[in-house]
Amino acid sequence: MDKRLQQLKKDFQEAVSKITDADSLEVVKNTYLGRKGQLNELLHGLKELSAKERPRMGQLANQVKQELTELLTTVEKQVAKVVTSLTDFDPTLPGRHESFGHLHPLTIMQRQLEDIFRQMGFKVLDGPEVESEYYNFTALNIPDDHPARDAHDTFWLKDGNLLRTHTSPVQVRALQKYGAPFRGVVPGKCFRYESTDASHDHTFHQMEGLMIDKDISVANLIAVMKMLLQSIFQREVQVRLRPGFFPFVEPGFELDLRCLICEGKGCSVCKQSGWVELMPCGMVHPEVLRQGGVDPNIYSGFAFGLGLSRLVMMKYGIDDVRLLLSSDSRFLQQF
Ligand code: PHE
Repeated sequence: MDKRLQQLKKDFQEAVSKITDADSLEVVKNTYLGRKGQLNELLHGLKELSAKERPRMGQLANQVKQELTELLTTVEKQVAKVVTSLTDFDPTLPGRHESFGHLHPLTIMQRQLEDIFRQMGFKVLDGPEVESEYYNFTALNIPDDHPARDAHDTFWLKDGNLLRTHTSPVQVRALQKYGAPFRGVVPGKCFRYESTDASHDHTFHQMEGLMIDKDISVANLIAVMKMLLQSIFQREVQVRLRPGFFPFVEPGFELDLRCLICEGKGCSVCKQSGWVELMPCGMVHPEVLRQGGVDPNIYSGFAFGLGLSRLVMMKYGIDDVRLLLSSDSRFLQQF
């Protein structure tokens, strides 16, 4: 009887290993553990054993029964899992769409501008976002007590440096490094400690431009600006020049673009005025040239600070600057 029990156990294990679905499971269950199954048949045989052997064999048989039942329960659970995953599978569903990333609209605009300027012989430069007080203000003819410093709402760092409030500090850095004549643009992030609204964000993008040579005048400035805007918008745009004050240019201007979102009717981006301040610019102040190691008696030039973020908004009809740096992917998926 001992042997027959061991054999039964072996047969059972083999049968279990062949179970693939609920049906084969049921067959194994009935064959071995059912009312008329092999195990019960063996148990019936206990009667014929001597009174001495019966308790030991009874115990052994019960142990085997328990083992078989446990094994079967585990298999049962596995089969149940397979069955549910099979019924969950719907072959009629459409396939999963692969989504690919793409360039941010700010990057697209930045690269487009870089291309335009390269064609006009401009270098494309980079500058530090953590800047010294000297390059951000002093070298740009903004002395310590000048109110223009307050207007810049600066993020000061503990070590006395600051997050640059504009890309203009690279004007002096570039002149110190390359000297004159010079043509270059500097795209990059700027930071201002001010409350945000539809047209202001604490972090925004500018592109500084600088052209220094002999006999450069306002006429060159206007020509380059016109060329630039035509290339970007590929359409008729209206601009206007107003006097503007920046300590590092003289004379200074404010170049405004007729709002392309509302066509001049007035909206939140143009603050209902129909015009968007796009580009402060002007002729580089002699003091700035001097700081850059360039002789203002020989050289002159113009500088501009293009609002990259604003330009992107105009180009794509975005009415809130904060969207540009938001993490809401629904916004970016549109481009
Ligand atoms: N840096 C100035 C600003 O951000 C803009 C500017 C650049 C003005 C170059 C004139 C010339 O406010």
